[in-house]
Formats: sequence, structure tokens, C-alpha cells
Amino acid sequence: MQIIRTIKKMKQAIKIHAAEQIGFVPTMGFFHEGHLELMRQAHKENDITVVSVFVNPMQFGPNEDFESYPRDEQRDIELASENGADIIFMPSIEEMYPRSPIISMDILERTNVLCGKSRPGHFAGVVTVLSKLFHIIQPQKVYFGMKDAQQTAVVAALIEDLNFPIELVGVPTVREPSGLAKSSRNVRLSEKEKSEAPSLYQALQLGRKMVLDGETNPAIIKKRGQQLHC
Ligand code: PAF
Repeated sequence: MQIIRTIKKMKQAIKIHAAEQIGFVPTMGFFHEGHLELMRQAHKENDITVVSVFVNPMQFGPNEDFESYPRDEQRDIELASENGADIIFMPSIEEMYPRSPIISMDILERTNVLCGKSRPGHFAGVVTVLSKLFHIIQPQKVYFGMKDAQQTAVVAALIEDLNFPIELVGVPTVREPSGLAKSSRNVRLSEKEKSEAPSLYQALQLGRKMVLDGETNPAIIKKRGQQLHC
């Protein structure tokens, strides 16, 4: 596996593989089983798999966890190479943003609920860095975990609206045996939070079952979900 840190070298590597199909897994590193599943699927479906590791400052708000976001470069390199990556792209902040950007991207729909509602500017940062990475890496397929369902919906719009010639592949969420979705930030949960967090998935599962069994009142479904762990 090649480790590349500059855009220039990444573009040279892409030229060499111009005739091959490139699958791309964009990440912020500190890999868990969900990331590895994306890499394995990309490896199966493409000639070349490129994984990027870049903790993108543009998608963190001023009071968010950019500084303390978990990082382990050496472990990421080993895991990527064991799980099908051919190239790992690990640029520095200066490489990706040599000066503060002049162009900003505005997202008009799909971000006024869920995570987008409580993290103003987050998805603008995500689509900005992804646009840059798509231009640098020029993949035919790009892989995203369905854990970040809102992100996947926003990226689908990015690809469609800006005519990126890329197929978006959404990969099912990988979960702990408790039902908790695997996430790099899980390392920061206390034991108490870890025991409480799976109730989110249990509530969603219960809600799904209630809908399938014929319940149509969202207030009743919400109440039953909230009662699960009281
Ligand atoms: O999901 C993530 O890890 C990030 O939002 C992404 C897509 C790599 C963009 O920085």
C-alpha cells in the first residue's frame, strides 16, 4: 500500500491508474469495523481502492471536538493495508487549505433537521472537502456508511447537483453486539453512556416494528420509544 501526503503525488498516482476503476473511501481516520467494511467492499468492486484520512477542520464548529477528535495514524495505516486499500491519502491541513477558502458552498435542503440543525456549517465543510477530494482522486465509486444517513443524503445531492461522474455506494451500519453503531467517537463514551446509548437503536427498532404492525400515530411511537429505558 502506498502512503501519499501531497496532492501533487496523489494526482501522479491517479494518472498511473487512469485506465482502472477507482473506489474511494473518504474518512477522518481512527478506523473502526465500519470503515474497514467500506474498504473491503471498495476492494471487491474496484481495481484500485483509495482511502483518505483527513480530520477536516472546516466541518467542526468553534466549540466542537476538532482538537480532541481521536487520531492514530500508524494504526490506520496498518488497518487500511490489511483491509484492501492500495493507496492511503493523508494530507496535512496546509496541503488541503493553503489559505482560507474564498468560495463557500451553501446547502439549501436536507440539512435543516437532525445533525445539520444543531451543527450550522458542518455539512458545508463536508461538501467542500469532498468536492476537493473528488477532484483530486477522481473515483468512479465512493463509499459511505449509512450510519451517517444525513451525510449520505447530502453527498447524493452534491454528486447530482455538481455532476460528479461518481456512483455513491451506501454501506449498512456496523454495530456492536449491544446494537450501538460503531463510531470513532465511541471511545469517548463513559461506561454509563455506553450502557444507555443502545437504547437509541432499540427505540428505532421498536418504532419500525410498530409502524409495520400498523401504528400510524408518531406521538404514540415516540412515547413508547422514550419509555424504553425509563
Ligand atoms: O464521515 C466522515 O468521516 C467525514 O464527514 C468525511 C466524509 C470524511 C468528510 O470529511
